[in-house]
Amino acid sequence: MGEEEKGEEYLFKIVVIGDSAVGKSNLLSRFARDEFDHNSKATIGVEFQTQVVEIDGKEVKAQVWDTAGQERFRAVTSAYYRGAVGALVVYDISRRTTFENVKRWLDELNTHCDTTIATMLVGNKCDLENIREVSVEDGKSLAEEEGLFFIETSALDSTNVNMAFEIVIREIY
Ligand code: GTP
Ligand code: MG
Repeated sequence: MGEEEKGEEYLFKIVVIGDSAVGKSNLLSRFARDEFDHNSKATIGVEFQTQVVEIDGKEVKAQVWDTAGQERFRAVTSAYYRGAVGALVVYDISRRTTFENVKRWLDELNTHCDTTIATMLVGNKCDLENIREVSVEDGKSLAEEEGLFFIETSALDSTNVNMAFEIVIREIY
């Protein structure tokens, strides 16, 4: 039986999507365990972690789902998105193509989820300022166009990682 069925009051499923190697798994490990892996391997299939967050004095459980960005490793679509109430759509600020592919990820999200799902556009690897290919303005304006929240993060140096998840959780809560 999944945790959703046990009747916990505040358990929120959040999905993390985006191209391969944008840092999805490291955002999750930074958020859930305060860990970063310089040599992390591409995710195969699906993983999730549950993290308790305190919002306004109440304990909220965020069940964060992470899957492969690489098509050949993706075991899922419908099951992955089922029951999700929040999403992080991640790109890498140092690789323009990952930003250009955001629209595809949004299409997939919209195909499987209600449009009211709280969605955060995340420009990860903001520590790589010297090789930036996507400006903050570009990120912001795409988010505005699509009606998303926007934040830049670094799983490497921890910038805004908790904030990214907390904003989504607050919006749902
Ligand atoms: P898939 O599982 O293939 O979809 O990739 P992913 O999006 O989960 O990427 P992953 O978290 O495995 O990170 C890919 C690479 O980017 C790894 O070498 C990480 O160490 C690195 N990385 C992740 N986040 C950051 C970051 O914020 N800054 C920098 N500089 N590197 C990062
Ligand atoms: Mg991964």
